[in-house]
Amino acid sequence: MREETLSVEQTRALGARLAKTAAAGDIYALEGGLGSGKTEFVRGFVKALSPASAVRSPTFSIVNTYKTPSFPVYHFDFYRIEERQELFSVGFDEYVNGDGVCLVEWGTMFPDVLPPFTKIIRFSDAGESKRIVEAGFLF
Ligand SMILES: Nc1ncnc2c1ncn2[C@@H]1O[C@H](COP(=O)(O)OP(=O)(O)OP(=O)(O)O)[C@@H](O)[C@H]1O
Ligand SMILES: [Mg+2]
Repeated sequence: MREETLSVEQTRALGARLAKTAAAGDIYALEGGLGSGKTEFVRGFVKALSPASAVRSPTFSIVNTYKTPSFPVYHFDFYRIEERQELFSVGFDEYVNGDGVCLVEWGTMFPDVLPPFTKIIRFSDAGESKRIVEAGFLF
C-alpha cells in the first residue's frame, strides 16, 4: 500500500486503520526520518483501541506500554539507542515474544534484533503537511 496524507489527522487515521487488522504477536518497524509521522501514526493506532490513552514519544524511555481491550501495545523508539545491548537490558526479546503488538520507531536501525516476520512501514516527508506512508502489505 502507498498513501499520501495531507494532515496529522490523516496519518493518525492510517494508524487507526492498521489497528483494525493488527493481531497480538505482530511486530511493525516504522522507518523514516525525523518528523515523518511515525509517532502520530502510533498515536492513531493506540487511540483507536484505547481512546483515553495519552501517547507520548518513547525517545527517552525506549518503550511505552499501552493497555487496550484488544492487546497491549508496546511502542518502541530505537533512535537514541547506541548499542543493541541496551535493547537486551529493556527486555526487547520478551516484548517481541509476548502477547502484544510492537510498534518500533527507527526499528531498522538494528535489523537483526527484529524477527523475520516483522512488517516494515516506511514514512517520508513530502512537504510541509504532506507525508507518504508505504508498506509491502495491505491494511
Ligand atoms: N501529514 C502529516 N502527517 C503526520 N504529521 C504531520 C503531517 N503534516 C505535518 N505533520 C507534522 O509532522 C510532525 C510529525 O511528528 P512525529 O512525531 O509523528 O514524527 P516522527 O516520525 O515520530 O519523528 P521522530 O523520528 O523524531 O520520532 C508533527 O510535528 C506533525 O504536526
Ligand atoms: Mg517519533
